Amino acid sequence: MPSLVLQAPAKTNLSLRVLGQRDDGYHEIRTCMAPLSLADSLQIELLPQGRGLQFSLEGADWTPKPGEVNLVEKAARLFGERVKRTVDARITLNKRIPSGAGLGGGSSDAAATLRGLNQLSGAGLDEKSLLELAAAIGSDVPFFIHGKLCECSGRGENITPVADDWELPIVLLKPAFAVATPEAYARWKSSRKIPGVLYAPQLCPWGEMVNDLETAVFSKYPVLARMKMWLLEQPETHAAIMSGSGSTVLAVLSSQFGGENLAARAREEFGPSLWTYVGQTV
Ligand code: C5P
Repeated sequence: MPSLVLQAPAKTNLSLRVLGQRDDGYHEIRTCMAPLSLADSLQIELLPQGRGLQFSLEGADWTPKPGEVNLVEKAARLFGERVKRTVDARITLNKRIPSGAGLGGGSSDAAATLRGLNQLSGAGLDEKSLLELAAAIGSDVPFFIHGKLCECSGRGENITPVADDWELPIVLLKPAFAVATPEAYARWKSSRKIPGVLYAPQLCPWGEMVNDLETAVFSKYPVLARMKMWLLEQPETHAAIMSGSGSTVLAVLSSQFGGENLAARAREEFGPSLWTYVGQTV
């Protein structure tokens, strides 16, 4: 049966401005999102009719809470409903992007599922239909349908591609804990800044780097503020902010060299349970 393997890249928000809370409970945002060299991979294999959807996960543990489905299964179900066919496919997800990290891993997996099923099944949904399906899965998912540097607005689902071709060298640091996105947004209005921590925009040649969710997340997890300030003190760092709703903190480096050394020093500073990644925006 036909099969294909897709890469599902992580993202970071080079800037994330929260403009206010909306009546539907979401927050109005303006954000610049960039795909990263870090990626999950997804194998989709069509199965004979009647076999249904078979999902398996490699490289991570995930035990669903009652009633919870992962975003790959949700995307496959929505795709089937949209094209009025049952989805008979085996989907194997190889996870490299940590969860609860502000790196969009689950959203990217969902977008790859939509793209892959659309291609393999011959359903031929156009980009507009895929973007609509994506927005029904999550605010970040439309960005991954496009998969290139974008300015995003609304709750994140309105995407405008940006014609820049920056390849920024980055280091990612993530502590062992995850941050839940709803909690980060829920704390946005009421949280206080930690004295001595830099929250102001950092002006860079590719634009300003700033994340309005840092106040909310740093006040609950001060170690993330410490990681950001530590990164800013390192000679390799050009700019540093929290990625999305955390718990990853990201440094953009001044040069493509020195990332491994910086990551090794970070593990010494913050302990061996720190997850690190050296790569670039793509
Ligand atoms: O859209 P998604 O399912 O990824 O969002 C998860 C949660 O994050 C939402 O239920 C909401 O609580 C919060 N959120 C928000 N404003 C956004 C995006 C997400 O409040 N722009």
